[in-house]
Amino acid sequence: MPPATLQALREALLAWFARNARDLPWRRTRDPYRILVSEIMLQQTQVERVVPKYHAFLEAFPPLERLADAPTAEVIRLWAGLGYNRRAVNLQRTARVVVEEHGGSFPREVAALRRLPGVGPYTAGAVACFAFEQDVAFLDTNIRRVLRRACIGPDELAGGVGDRELLALGAALVPPGRGWAWNQALIELGALVCTAAVPACPRCPLRPACRAYAARAAADEALIGAMAAGVHPLPARRVAERKAQPYAGSRRWYRGRVIDALRALPPGGALPLVELGPRLKPDYASADEPWLRALVADLDRDGLLVVEGERVRLP
Ligand code: ADE
Repeated sequence: MPPATLQALREALLAWFARNARDLPWRRTRDPYRILVSEIMLQQTQVERVVPKYHAFLEAFPPLERLADAPTAEVIRLWAGLGYNRRAVNLQRTARVVVEEHGGSFPREVAALRRLPGVGPYTAGAVACFAFEQDVAFLDTNIRRVLRRACIGPDELAGGVGDRELLALGAALVPPGRGWAWNQALIELGALVCTAAVPACPRCPLRPACRAYAARAAADEALIGAMAAGVHPLPARRVAERKAQPYAGSRRWYRGRVIDALRALPPGGALPLVELGPRLKPDYASADEPWLRALVADLDRDGLLVVEGERVRLP
């Protein structure tokens, strides 16, 4: 990309963000603990649902040390409504590692952040950028979609492009010294304008440089030409991305129902397996017992519950 085009593209997106950014609580802090909590919550859950949970979580565990010291059951209880409960356990493990191995201060480097429990490449990049203001590139669903469309082309064509290539493209775009605003802006554009199903191209600051827009505009022209000539070709179908929802009846769905059942107990309470089974499946029978035992053994291994003889409880 010619330097002047790159400069124009950067400025267009940053100016758009300055005018359109939502005022979200994690954008008002650079505390790595708060940033991590927000990013872990946002991984599988929508912004509107995260905001109250984010406040409640940090009210319960204001400094990192409180989270590290809390009973895991308390952390899992507070996670109610967010799903993917393993995130809660990993968040607490990370708090413990930071307290015990890093003297209570988060590491700053992406490589060190990645060694924390439950912290993958996206989260490590997000903390390095949103807490420590490093000019790093990283990918989540929104950023991937924006980069694919802007730099490669329409979804049908760009869908197969891998993360390595996208990261290289993304890294070349980050404006030096403005990584925080740039990455927030990519996320915001993906959430508000460059959405999966119906992108609002007329409102998009990247439209002049966007490959997908150019391709679609060319296809529309061709379609108009063909219709004028009396031919009616079928337009390409849009491929919409969907948030993964656990199927009722899938293993992940049952895992969530087990934790819900344990959350509903008074603190410290335990549930006999013979009571848990029928709560999960109304037609629970003794033939389901091996399945139930395997299910709770998995949750035990993940640190989400404790099996005590024939009873289970939150850790
Ligand atoms: N999703 C992931 N990170 C986000 C952020 N910082 N702001 C809004 N949505 C997000």
